[in-house]
Amino acid sequence: MKKIAIKGTGSFSPERVVPNSYFEKIIDTSDEWITTRTGIKERRMIEKGQAMSDLATLASASALQMAGISADELDLIIIGTSTADMLSPSAACMVQYRLGAKKAVAFDVNAACPGFIYGLAVAQKFMQDGSYSKALVVGGEIVSNRLDYKDRSTCVLFGDGAGAVVLEHSNGKDNGEILAMDIESDGDLWHLIHVPGGGSRIPPSHEMLNEGLQYLKMNGNEVFKHAVRTLVDSARKIMAQQGITSEEIDWFIPHQANIRIMDVVAEKLGIPTEKVIVTVHKYGNTSAATIPVAFDEAVRSGQIRKGDLVLVSSFGAGLTWGAALFRY
Ligand code: UT7
Repeated sequence: MKKIAIKGTGSFSPERVVPNSYFEKIIDTSDEWITTRTGIKERRMIEKGQAMSDLATLASASALQMAGISADELDLIIIGTSTADMLSPSAACMVQYRLGAKKAVAFDVNAACPGFIYGLAVAQKFMQDGSYSKALVVGGEIVSNRLDYKDRSTCVLFGDGAGAVVLEHSNGKDNGEILAMDIESDGDLWHLIHVPGGGSRIPPSHEMLNEGLQYLKMNGNEVFKHAVRTLVDSARKIMAQQGITSEEIDWFIPHQANIRIMDVVAEKLGIPTEKVIVTVHKYGNTSAATIPVAFDEAVRSGQIRKGDLVLVSSFGAGLTWGAALFRY
């Protein structure tokens, strides 16, 4: 089985900054509530007319540049997203077109927040036997236009963004290698986070729009409990598989949904806060984009260096969850 390494990273976050004070003007909330309950101070949101593939294309171009490979060398493009530009075709095909990656096979993975980890797991399987050799995996999301700005329990939490990695077979000379992956789902809990309208069960209609069924619904309290359990279990599972203890982890990037969840999970795993990469204060929860954006920023700032052992884990609608352990 061939080894796979991350050769380049990239990310793009929209320029429009929406601070907590914006929500104080439109709903019954406060900067104090949002900050203490979630850790979020501001988030980035697209301008009207921008779409997911716009962000994903910019993130991808930047990852390709770091990897030193051109788009026409890619043979696989996977985008983890549940907010593609259109219901069909996939966002991956739009990105393929925008990059000019003519040789690649392109498709989306719809696994909500862990979409990037799911994409990484699929790419790893496709590449391990040598069938594919240069892959682009993106986690990207535009949540801002799926939010009900009258529902204070959800609208303050989310933002938009995209992050990307370029994968190649590891040449063995450096230490870069994806060591272990875990992806899991529990469809029994689908109702905890969902967007009811706009799909085949409740297709678009005036009635659907009047009832606000195009917006994200979430049972935050219940999700919180499952989040802690699944993030911890998944991370422990892959560390045990590799015989790695939490002391050996250089950096932990949990899904950036709520600082309280991240703190509890890191504590349960025995990972000190100095090793936890945090971006939730500036971007909020960008769903599938949280991990690749945080990873790219940590690489570019020099925090994460070649050879570091990195653990990432995520959970979200489905429910879906997963973790990845890799040496950068
Ligand atoms: O990536 C997708 C995964 N999703 C998540 O990770 C979300 C996980 N859940 C959470 O992060 C938290 O449950 C929330 C941040 C969503 C909510 O925090 P909480 O501490 O669980 O608050 P709560 O839902 O228990 O609500 C406490 C109170 C309620 O008021 P009452 O009933 O006690 O009077 C809410 O109505 O806070 C109220 N509340 C707010 N107050 C001010 C809810 N949202 C707000 C708000 N501003 N924005």
